[in-house]
Amino acid sequence: MKTELYTKAQIDEAAKQIQLGELVSFPTETVYGLGADATNDTAVQKVYQAKGRPSDNPLIVHVADVATVEKYAEPLSDAAKKLIKQFWPGPLTLIFNLKPDALSTHVTGGLTTAAFRMPNNQATLDLIKTAGIPLVGPSANTSGKPSPTLAEHVYHDLNGKIAGILDDGATQLGVESTVLDMSTEVPTVLRPGAVSIEQLEAIIGNVVSNKHHVGLKEVPKAPGMKYKHYAPNAQVYIVDQPSEFPEALKWAGQQPFLVGLMVTDELAANLTLPANVELYSLGTDVNSASHLLFAALRHFDENPQVKAILTEAFKPEGIGAAYMNRLDKSAGQRHFGDDR
Ligand code: TXA
Ligand code: MG
Repeated sequence: MKTELYTKAQIDEAAKQIQLGELVSFPTETVYGLGADATNDTAVQKVYQAKGRPSDNPLIVHVADVATVEKYAEPLSDAAKKLIKQFWPGPLTLIFNLKPDALSTHVTGGLTTAAFRMPNNQATLDLIKTAGIPLVGPSANTSGKPSPTLAEHVYHDLNGKIAGILDDGATQLGVESTVLDMSTEVPTVLRPGAVSIEQLEAIIGNVVSNKHHVGLKEVPKAPGMKYKHYAPNAQVYIVDQPSEFPEALKWAGQQPFLVGLMVTDELAANLTLPANVELYSLGTDVNSASHLLFAALRHFDENPQVKAILTEAFKPEGIGAAYMNRLDKSAGQRHFGDDR
């Protein structure tokens, strides 16, 4: 069994801070969240300030029971109930129509819907129950930066701006939850995550995926999609095929700066690295790569000499869809070889 890093006293203290309207970072199975009382407008506004997040980007409401969702949302459909039964607690965020004025516009970004999720982390479920209030919880990073998968990442971005961090070690999955809009006629995936489209369809039939690129002038379906995301200081390049790495490394070796390399061990074993290339292993496969993606990007941010990062691509299936979605954003969709 995993050793717990936190104590009951820390959960009680965190719950007290939440009740006082302070911000506490909480662990989940995906990434660390930035928690505040979802029913306290001032507390919710502090979340936007701490992250530097645009105020039209709505927040997920984290709950420890379904009754809390039913309190705010319109009656749940059978499909919604089936998804909840199958995937909660877990990495699936569901968007529902709200009862009139059920939640503050600071939570919803002015929409008539809200996003709900029950995270699969015992410390956080205990925190929500002890506080007795649902928590808003965006990822606990500075807006635009990679999401935090360790308490240290939260500390780096938010030290001095929050009351504390409930530390539960590294998050298991490493990429954020799947966001599924249940307010549309056919449920729409707004953000791919650990629960795949195939898994959703097995439970409720047809779902659509919103691949549409959202322009700044449109009202986007997931308002978060229009902003720059997950971007480290260095330029990230996606290397589409393993066979392209020798050429990419040749290019790297000719650069006057350091180049980061993010690949799995199997691929790394077959590559010869120039002296100015630093390897960060993505482990064995797409699962470990998803788990390590944000930590790797943050690692290279610590060294200002690293000006480019070459990163392995995976098939956009299962958790690979979530990995490629986050990687696309951190790279600004740049692929090695695009410029030539
Ligand atoms: O795994 C996760 O979901 C993490 C952990 C902490 O729970 N949270 C997270 O929150 O990723 P955040 O705020 O970084 O991302 C929430 C996404 C944003 O893209 C936001 O625009 C979208 O969900 N969203 C929230 N409410 C929405 C709504 N009512 N309609 C459409 N999109 C919504
Ligand atoms: Mg985020």
